[in-house]
Parts: sequence; structure tokens; C-alpha cells
Amino acid sequence: MSTGEAPALTDAELRLLQALVYQECGMHFDERRITFLQDRLQRRLKECGLDSFYGYYRLLISQQGKQELARLVENLTVNETSFFRNKAQLDLFQNEVLEELLGRKRERRDHSLRIWSAGCSSGQEPYTLAMLVADSLSYHNLRHPFPSPSPLPKPLVPPPWHLEILASDISYSVLRTAEEGSYTEAQMSPVDYGFRLRYFDKAGAHYVIKKTVKELVHFDFHNLKTEYLPQRNDIIFCRNVMMYFDEAEQRRLIEKFYRCLNPNGYIFVGHAESLLGLTQKFQMLHSNSGTAYRRVEVTM
Ligand SMILES: C[S@@+](CC[C@H](N)C(=O)[O-])C[C@H]1O[C@@H](n2cnc3c(N)ncnc32)[C@H](O)[C@@H]1O
Repeated sequence: MSTGEAPALTDAELRLLQALVYQECGMHFDERRITFLQDRLQRRLKECGLDSFYGYYRLLISQQGKQELARLVENLTVNETSFFRNKAQLDLFQNEVLEELLGRKRERRDHSLRIWSAGCSSGQEPYTLAMLVADSLSYHNLRHPFPSPSPLPKPLVPPPWHLEILASDISYSVLRTAEEGSYTEAQMSPVDYGFRLRYFDKAGAHYVIKKTVKELVHFDFHNLKTEYLPQRNDIIFCRNVMMYFDEAEQRRLIEKFYRCLNPNGYIFVGHAESLLGLTQKFQMLHSNSGTAYRRVEVTM
């Protein structure tokens, strides 16, 4: 039992716990972030009422410790996010990538679109994508009307298009917040009033994502460290997640993303992240300060 005094974390214990976290979720704590790891470990140890880090490690690797391991990982994630994050990149997404993809799909009479927000945090990223894609599909249908009459009231996604946005994270608590889809005035600051009017309801001091938008987004738990990840995506957004992994884990993740994408699919990574030097399997697109990567198809 805890004696009240926080025990010292030895170098050997730190290395053990660091390796366990890496093995579990790919997060790598280098010199710059080691104090953060130490601090979170101290907190969890205290919460569990344990008096040695080695004892805590033993708990984490035991069958009964699975829940605590998930809680520790949750405590180690950085969940910073915002609506319309990296505007230049979203312009590239909407004006060039979606345009190309919708045109290509229309020619093949394939009207399905599947986008995955991997590491979605509290939902601002997938909801931003839902709003942008809904607008793009309506505009696309205006220019290329489909012969059959549109049902009334007009659905957010015009038929025959079918939009599916999968949003995943390793933290259950951010997934719960995302599913609620309720945001404060401060969180709404990047959302202009046109989007607020069309896609949000007001509930007291909060803005709540409309049901029709929520229906486009499906939230689920996925650990990017595992091999089993969602397949057949047209576009993957994985922004500000890879930066917490080391190079080996980043390479593994990019390989997995390659397999999770449809041919000629796209990846968007964070402003401070890049695929350059990590893979030859994606081609970089750059426009007005926005960057995306397109899957390269190998021709035999
Ligand atoms: C900084 S947030 C980025 C949110 C959003 N993509 C954005 O750019 O605004 C990083 C998210 O990645 C999640 N994450 C970290 N490691 C993960 C893993 N191994 N599998 C799935 N999600 C992970 C965290 O829980 C966190 O919510």
C-alpha cells in the first residue's frame, strides 16, 4: 500500500515502462517528453495506491491490469485539436483532391466515398470533413445533376452519393466527447457563421452538431499500433498523431495505411509531419501551402 510519499522512479523502471507503452500504442517518449511520461506515471501510481513502479509494471502486464494499461495510455495522449485545422490543407482537400476523386468515381458510376479520420480526438476533424464533403457533393451534383428526382426534404448527401466517415481514436474519453458533438463558444471560434447556421444547433451556451451531420460519422476505437485496421478507404486523415511515434513506427504505420487505401487514394498528415524519406509508395501534392500524398500504383 501507498505510504503517502511518492517513490522514486529508477532508470531501469522508466525504461521498462517506456518500452511497454511503445509496444502497446507506438508512442515514443524521447528526452523532450520524458518528464511528461514521469509525471503521468507518478499520477497513475498514486491513483492505484501502489508504492513501487516495478509493482505498477507487474500490474500492467498482468491479465487484471488491462484496464489500467488502457487508462495509462489515455493519460499519455495529447488530444489537442480544432475545427478547420490547417485551412490551406483543407482547401487542397476540397478543391483539388475531392474534385479529382468525385470526377473519377462518377465516371466509374461508383458513388460511394469513404474517409477515415485516424486519431480523431474530440471530433472536430471528422465533423469538419463531414461539413466540407457535404458541401462539395451538393456542388458536384449541381454541376452534374443525376437524372432521378431528388427526395424532399433535401438530404445532406445528395443521392446517389453515399458518404461514410469513420473516426477512430485510442482514447475512449475523447471518443465519448466526439459522439456527443457539443462544443463551447471558444472551441467554435474557427467555425464561421455560415457553417454554424447550417450544421449546428444551439443548446444553451453550446453548439451541438446536427443529427444529419452526426449520421455521416461513425466513431470507433482503433489502436494504430495493431495490424487490423479499417480497409477500403478513399482518403485517410492522420494528422498530428505520427509525430508521437519514432521513425520505425512511422514507417510501419505508413505501410499499413498503404494497404488501408483504395488504389490512388490519399493521405493527409499534420503540418509538422511528412512522408518524405519514409516511403516511396506515395507521391506528394503541394498547393498553396497545403500538402497531401497520393498512393502510387505499381504497374507490372
Ligand atoms: C493531437 S491529437 C490530433 C487530433 C486531430 N487529428 C487533429 O489533427 O486535430 C492526436 C490523437 O491521436 C490519438 N492517438 C495517439 N496514439 C494513437 C494510437 N496508437 N492509435 C490511435 N489513436 C492514437 C490520441 O488519443 C489523440 O486523440
